[in-house]
This record gives sequence, C-alpha cells and structure tokens, in this order.
Amino acid sequence: MPDHVQAFQDTTQTVAVIGAGLIGLSWAALFTAAGKQVNLYDSRPEAGQHMADFWVSVKPTLIRLGLASAATEPKVEVFAALADAVGDADFIQECIPERLEAKQTLYAEMEPHLKAHAIVATSSSGLKLSDLQAGWQVPGRVIIAHPFNPPHLIPLVELYGNERTDADVLPRASAFYERCGKVVVTLQREVLAHVANRLQAALWREAIHLVLEGVASLKDIDTAVHAGPGLRWAVMGPHLLLNLGGGEGGLRAYCEQFRDSYHQWWDDLGTPQLTDANIDTLVNALQAEIDGREYTELRAERDEKLVAILGAMKEVDARQRQARRPA
Ligand SMILES: NC(=O)c1ccc[n+]([C@@H]2O[C@H](COP(=O)([O-])OP(=O)(O)OC[C@H]3O[C@@H](n4cnc5c(N)ncnc54)[C@H](O)[C@@H]3O)[C@@H](O)[C@H]2O)c1
Repeated sequence: MPDHVQAFQDTTQTVAVIGAGLIGLSWAALFTAAGKQVNLYDSRPEAGQHMADFWVSVKPTLIRLGLASAATEPKVEVFAALADAVGDADFIQECIPERLEAKQTLYAEMEPHLKAHAIVATSSSGLKLSDLQAGWQVPGRVIIAHPFNPPHLIPLVELYGNERTDADVLPRASAFYERCGKVVVTLQREVLAHVANRLQAALWREAIHLVLEGVASLKDIDTAVHAGPGLRWAVMGPHLLLNLGGGEGGLRAYCEQFRDSYHQWWDDLGTPQLTDANIDTLVNALQAEIDGREYTELRAERDEKLVAILGAMKEVDARQRQARRPA
C-alpha cells in the first residue's frame, strides 16, 4: 500500500462538503460527529445558519445512534469561497444539485485548489461517473459516493470508480466512510442510477401503477410495503430472504416452485410515466395518508422509527457476535 494511503487512513481530518442542502447538511452532521473538521461551502450565504439549525435538530438522533455525545461540538467552518473550502481538505463530498453542467463547472473551478491526494466524491443520485470525469485534469481522484437520504441515518453508501480511477482511491474512500459509520457497497461496473435507486425505481414504478389502476388506495399500497416486505428488507436483502422462502431447499427450491408465477407477474407489471396528470393523482391520493401532519412531524416520525430499528439491530448483531465467540 503506498505511503499516502496509510497516512490518509490514519490522519484524515478535514472534509469539505460542497452544497449545503438536504444531503450536504446531513453528510456534514455525520462527518463532524465522526470527529472530522468540516469545511462547508454553498452558493447561498445563509448556509451557516442552516447548518447550525440542522445540527441542533439532529444531535439528539446522533447521540441515540451512538455517533455523538452530549459534549460533541460541531467542528464546521463555513467558507465564502470554494477555493478556501477545498484547499486543505483531504476529502471532498460534493452535494450540489443533480445537473451535469453545474457539477462540471464546479469541478473545473475546484480542481486547481485541491491537495495532491484529495478524493472528490459526488453524492449524485444517478449521473454517470464517465460524464462527471469529463474536463478533469486528474479524473482518477473522482468517484461516486451515493448516500440514501438522510445520510446521517441511513447507513448505505454506494461507491463507484471506473478504469480511470486511481487504484488506491476506492479503498481509501471505503475506509473513510466506514470510519464515519457507513455501510459501503462498491459497484463493479457503471450503470445509470447505481443499484439502490434502480431497486427503488422498480418498486415505486409498480406502486404508482397500482395506484393509477385503482387496485388499492395509495395509503394501503404504502402499508403493504412498510408492514410487509419493507420490514423484512430492513433485516436482509431479497435474495437471502427468498432463500428462506424456499425452505430447506433454499433459493433454488424457491425459484423452481415460483418461476412460472414470477414470469407471469413480471409480464403484467405496469410502466406508468410521471405525467402532470399522474403526479396530480398521486399528490391528491397522498393527502389521506398524510392526514394533516406537517413535514417536520413526518420527518421526526421517520427518524425516530429508523433510530429504533437501527438500535435494535445493533443489539442483535452484538448478541450474535458474542454467541459466536468461542467459550
Ligand atoms: N434528495 C435526495 O433524496 C438525494 C439522495 C441521495 C443523493 N442525492 C444527491 O445529492 C445531491 C444534492 O441533492 P440535494 O437533494 O441535497 O439538493 P438541494 O437542492 O437540497 O441542495 C443543493 C445545495 O447546493 C447549493 N448549490 C447549488 N449550486 C451550487 C454551487 N455551484 N456551489 C455551491 N453550492 C451550490 C444550493 O444552494 C443548495 O443548498 C444531488 O446530486 C442529488 O442527486 C439526493
């Protein structure tokens, strides 16, 4: 392993978060809870106030997750100039809006000011790395590191580099995110929208189809996910679960038993579009499920339940690790 890799693993202190919106603020809170110095830059001058408010709102959650303590003070400095924010950063988490040209313009301005071994990770939900690398003098340092919202709560981060990526960059990035408490998956080849968003898109497409076809109310369709397979998916992925669904014969037995059914079901799935009319239908139907609750109330409910699930799973993992230890 080259020297600078070891140094990065041991000494990374400063992370620049560029773009302090929904995703950037959440990353910044996680990184500072993990003890990093965070340099924050946003084109909006009020980013500092947003960060301060956000920290206050998420600190109790980070404490409950064991990622911060009551004494944790956020080490966040807000910069007015991009060059100053990235200049001493070991790692840059880019979180500006999902527009290719905007990201490319930002990168061109940023690159001359980066430290030699700084890694630039974009949070992009679905842009292709090969497009995002265009225009870089040193494209080998740029990777995709896609979180699921909110990054300070949902453990997953999807990493992707390609044949232009320097060999040490993904292992260094992976070590960095794991130190911040993330669960890392690394894609083996480029695909539009990465893995998790493709899976979400597949499920949501069928959920929309079922609403539009009037098969059940939107609320019942949401319930069919969170009270059913969604709960199982929090614990295991679909293949491991269906391995259990096949009994002792495992996934092979499951496939053999249900392949004709799945082929019929797959042929019958819908392909709706998000037309203006369909969006209206979804938004109107959602009101029954929202039932007058404010955005902040719903967000708090989501976060509280996520923290409870994560905490319970951590306890089970610890108990199982203990049980596996030789006496
Ligand atoms: N929203 C999600 O659920 C989600 C999930 C995972 C990944 N992402 C990805 O994260 C990125 C950010 O998404 P978001 O939802 O946080 O967007 P957002 O609109 O909430 O925040 C973007 C922030 O970037 C700032 N900004 C815009 N242009 C800038 C520039 N040139 N320089 C500095 N700051 C700039 C804006 O002022 C804003 O504060 C996108 O690439 C998106 O695909 C979003």
